[in-house]
Amino acid sequence: MTKGMRKGLTSYGDPGFSLFLRRAFIKAMGFSDDALERPIIGITDTFSDYNPCHGNVPQLIEAVKRGVMLAGGLPMAFPTISIHESFSNPTSMFLRNLMAMDTEEMIRAQPMDSIVLIGGCDKTVPAQLMAAASADVPAIMLITGPMLVGHHKGEELGACTDCRRLWAAHRAGTIDEDEIDVLSGRLAPTNGTCMVMGTASTMACVSEALGIAMPGTGSIPATHADRLRAAEAAGKRAVEMAKIGGPKPSEIMTETAFHNALTVLQSIGGSTNGLVHLAALAGRLGIEINMAEFDRMGREVPTLIDLKPSGAHYMEHFHWAGGVPKLMKELGDLIDGRAMTVTGEPLSASIARAEEVPNQTIIRTRANPLQASGAMAVLSGNLAPQGALIKQSAASPTLMQHEGRAVVFESVEDMTLRMDDPDLDVTADDVLVLRNAGPVGAPGMPEAGYLPIPRKLAQQGVKDMVRISDARMSGTAFGTIVLHIVPEAAIGGPLGLVRNGDRIKLDVENRRIDLLVDEAELTRRKAEWTAPKPHAGSDRGYLSLYLNNVNQADQGCDFDFLRKTPIHPSKA
Ligand code: FES
Repeated sequence: MTKGMRKGLTSYGDPGFSLFLRRAFIKAMGFSDDALERPIIGITDTFSDYNPCHGNVPQLIEAVKRGVMLAGGLPMAFPTISIHESFSNPTSMFLRNLMAMDTEEMIRAQPMDSIVLIGGCDKTVPAQLMAAASADVPAIMLITGPMLVGHHKGEELGACTDCRRLWAAHRAGTIDEDEIDVLSGRLAPTNGTCMVMGTASTMACVSEALGIAMPGTGSIPATHADRLRAAEAAGKRAVEMAKIGGPKPSEIMTETAFHNALTVLQSIGGSTNGLVHLAALAGRLGIEINMAEFDRMGREVPTLIDLKPSGAHYMEHFHWAGGVPKLMKELGDLIDGRAMTVTGEPLSASIARAEEVPNQTIIRTRANPLQASGAMAVLSGNLAPQGALIKQSAASPTLMQHEGRAVVFESVEDMTLRMDDPDLDVTADDVLVLRNAGPVGAPGMPEAGYLPIPRKLAQQGVKDMVRISDARMSGTAFGTIVLHIVPEAAIGGPLGLVRNGDRIKLDVENRRIDLLVDEAELTRRKAEWTAPKPHAGSDRGYLSLYLNNVNQADQGCDFDFLRKTPIHPSKA
């Protein structure tokens, strides 16, 4: 098999000339013939001034390079898109597939025998894993790592469960303008990813469970020396993988690996976004996520991790309690230890080496779980014929069975304009409905599913209400929130038929979300329904590509043509 600099030559019709030209150009960087004969290890450079979650990437690249050179390889870092949650308009999810395409094509286009993918912020790890799955070059996922916790008035704070809680308090008038300014400097005190069990932490844990990240590395804080040692180790291991040509992502991310990843997702109180990303990743490999099976896991797999937003602590505490290997050890026979990892060993080997930390309470036992059930439940009903999701571990137990009057918002903009209107006809028992916020409707399925409590109710002390939408929500959010309704309203899903004052019933125990309107009336409304008008600029560029090819949430919102087996673009 062709390796190193001879791999994937530029097409000039003369391979000898192509190699000669390649070597001539790269020698301009000062490389010797000896260096150019070594196995090549690609390293993605996702540093960006816009992305503090990747603030340590330059140091990580240096450490990976050190590992590669210690093992006799040639490291080659190259840039790709970097996506940060707060600097992505309209939303980071809109750009995830673009980053996946960029990364996949750069892995294909440039010569490399293995690749170390460095990512951390919510959409970057999924994008990189999707790219690695499709390119199928031996790959290691190196996580940038979580931030350290913040402190304010003697309290530990974390981005961004506490961002939301404190902002809600500000909206309710209990935190003034001066204090909220101070807090903005304390919620994210170091570089690295959000340190609660949000999407970034979820995907870090899931990467370890999939076997595509080195064991025990997902939870190391971004600023710790161990993070750099993990990068060096990844570089060394990537050289070994380059030499033997494997294992490849398709040999690691098997159905068994996905079973383990979904089990870990449930047990950590993981982000609902994690399921969307895993569905997209599985689709790249020709694997279907079985939602019924995932729901069954939600009943069987306990939540074992005491981290916000389901619990009380943060990623650095989880790390020092033993991290993912210890968690998987506690999960016992719920994990299939035969799954292969990037180390060349089965998952059971790292589980056997899990650190035992006396008296730690962050990783619970199955006999003493944080919650008896897993993080998520899959719902269906006449409002969600192809499914919806609720993060039950972060919901209010008193609202898990609830019937209320619908208060409908037509779009994210409509919600923004009217939610705090003192004249809004709303009570704490109502069900807030947001539609046209799905993959096509928004576009990009923004994290708008965490509808704010209307200000007048927040000021009365209301902390949670049933909220439903075809949007996503941040993994850092807390509340009784039904998300990912499929099909979405903008493509004709029944969410688009709800009217103010309709009754909606949520029944998590029986996994139902229903609009209590009779069938004949719904048929009449369906006949009257018209699609929202096209988004500005939707006739060109990436937005056009996106709208014409994006799949629904149950398929991971990937582009249909990037799946191993295309199914269909979004349609009701
Ligand atoms: Fe990057 Fe939270 S904003 S991980």
